[in-house]
Amino acid sequence: MNDKSLSQISLPIENELVRFGEIFKQSLKSKVGLVDLVTRYILKQKGKKIRPLLVLLSSKAAGEVTERSYRGAILVELLHTATLVHDDVVDNAETRRGFPSINAVWKNKIAVLIGDYLLARGLMIAVEGNDFDFLKVITRTVKRMSEGELLQIKKTRSMDNDEKTYFRIIADKTASLLSTCCEIGARAATNDNSEIEAMRNFGENLGIAFQIRDDILDYIGKTNIIGKPLGGDIREKKITLPLIYALKNAGNSESKKIIKIIKNGKTSADVKYVIDFVKDKGGIQYSEKVAEQFASEAISNLKIFKESIYKNSLLDLVEFIVKRKN
Ligand code: IPE
Ligand code: IPE
Ligand code: MG
Ligand code: MG
Repeated sequence: MNDKSLSQISLPIENELVRFGEIFKQSLKSKVGLVDLVTRYILKQKGKKIRPLLVLLSSKAAGEVTERSYRGAILVELLHTATLVHDDVVDNAETRRGFPSINAVWKNKIAVLIGDYLLARGLMIAVEGNDFDFLKVITRTVKRMSEGELLQIKKTRSMDNDEKTYFRIIADKTASLLSTCCEIGARAATNDNSEIEAMRNFGENLGIAFQIRDDILDYIGKTNIIGKPLGGDIREKKITLPLIYALKNAGNSESKKIIKIIKNGKTSADVKYVIDFVKDKGGIQYSEKVAEQFASEAISNLKIFKESIYKNSLLDLVEFIVKRKN
């Protein structure tokens, strides 16, 4: 195996990422004390920065990193951060990236407003740079992400998720943004429509694999590494791919019993019972296989790009994403 770490994958654009980090920090400065306090708290936490990495690598693979690439990278990371801050309100999450979430520290009101602020800052940066093509792409993404989250809420209430709806949810709430990262990166570097489209499709397939992996980690991850409790989705009554598969492959009465536990169960023993059920029924293996399929689809989307260290990093990133532990 020659799986690469995220820092090895980032090596070809090391300097660009440093520059990104400086502009990102700058873009979060505010004269309003409370805003500055919360954004400084956000900056202390180290996210994986996968989205800016995708923008910059896509630009390099399709040409060069330009000023527009940096603005695109800032835009997507601001939008990503905004959605995480809002997501933690929606999910009532107490931790994020191993730290207490914004809502846990400052309550929901402030988390909602900070999320809005971050989104607005991102859009402003694109407006100031006259990147109207970015705005066209990103506003559609914001819409898709909200729709995905809302459909997910609907499904946690009815507790009858199926594969088809699951894929629609994760494509909208997660893959849409990764797709946008790659599309924006390409747009900043080339006018070639087939390359732009290939990057968009690459990001969409990668994004689906990414969220499937995220949902697997909820069953097999180590709490201290991913910074959130194991079995969180079960507690939130989210029926994701590993569980959908397990339920489909269990008898009727067993399925009913599991659904009942998810509906009413509260103890860690209940959560463990469901986790063991999913593992027993092969839900993890199946989901890993499906994630691999989307990963190979993503890899084939990159065929039209010429060989380069940047393209290789994108290929390594696909491997990283389907095997990641955090
Ligand atoms: C988490 O994304 C939210 C999902 C779409 C599953 P990441 O795992 O990329 O979050 P950070 O930025 O590294 O914390
Ligand atoms: C992450 O969704 C947020 C978005 C994709 C908008 P989840 O709720 O599934 O992810 P985590 O587990 O909180 O990161
Ligand atoms: Mg969440
Ligand atoms: Mg959520």
